[in-house]
Amino acid sequence: MKVLVFGNPEESAEYISQEILAAVRHKPNLVLGLATGSTPIAVYVRLIHAHQTQGVDFSGCITFNLDEYLDLPEGHERSYRYFMNQHFFSGVNVRPSNRHFPPSQGKDLARQCLDYENKIQEVGGIDMQVLGIGSNGHIGFNEPTSSLASRTRIKTLAEKTLRDNSRFYRPGEVQPQMASTAGIGTILEAGKILLQAFGLKKADAVHAAVEGPVSAFWPGSALQLHPQVTLCLDADSASKLSLRDYYKRVRENDERRLKE
Ligand code: GLP
Repeated sequence: MKVLVFGNPEESAEYISQEILAAVRHKPNLVLGLATGSTPIAVYVRLIHAHQTQGVDFSGCITFNLDEYLDLPEGHERSYRYFMNQHFFSGVNVRPSNRHFPPSQGKDLARQCLDYENKIQEVGGIDMQVLGIGSNGHIGFNEPTSSLASRTRIKTLAEKTLRDNSRFYRPGEVQPQMASTAGIGTILEAGKILLQAFGLKKADAVHAAVEGPVSAFWPGSALQLHPQVTLCLDADSASKLSLRDYYKRVRENDERRLKE
């Protein structure tokens, strides 16, 4: 795992967006795995800016989102489809037919989940996966105790996740309790994984992911099994890592060298 401790989330967003832009320039038909939540928003802002001011072309890119709530009506403002339109797709030229989400309604969800996996395979797999992490260590909506080999499927959300995400809901508004999510096994097949986590609330999940044993109790720890993971942190999310000062120095040295 490459662990980078940034001075603030904006620096991390800059780093991740540059990685993605370089990958898109290198491979115009890049297959991107995308995440929702508040963490990646600053990355999407930068990608939109690069598209609008430097003409970076996303028309060949194929995207697969990690997760989606079940049974929200089409176009619902809490759906992850809506989130992605609002924060990313409305500002770039990813073709609508190239945007994919795990199933959220209709019959035979299990079959649809399998179709989603097959679609990823058909385009040659995900090249680059943008990832966040829940305070309980979930990745996508793979809650603690999810199988490390899991594939796209339906999950019931954990109490802690519902509490964390309740900030997006108005009092009295019904909060979905179930979602579809790419599995941990699905995520681990991406060519490269870029995870961001900020704030003290993520410190335990980051500690477990980086320095804990690989365990289904902390799904983020499964990333230790992947050869190409970069974790972009701030001082707070890195605060429980025993090697935090080392990681910070390594990044500062890298930066100095780049400037020389
Ligand atoms: C959500 C999403 C995850 C996301 C995580 C963190 O529930 N399903 O994909 O990474 O929780 O969210 P945030 O970035 O808002 O902290």
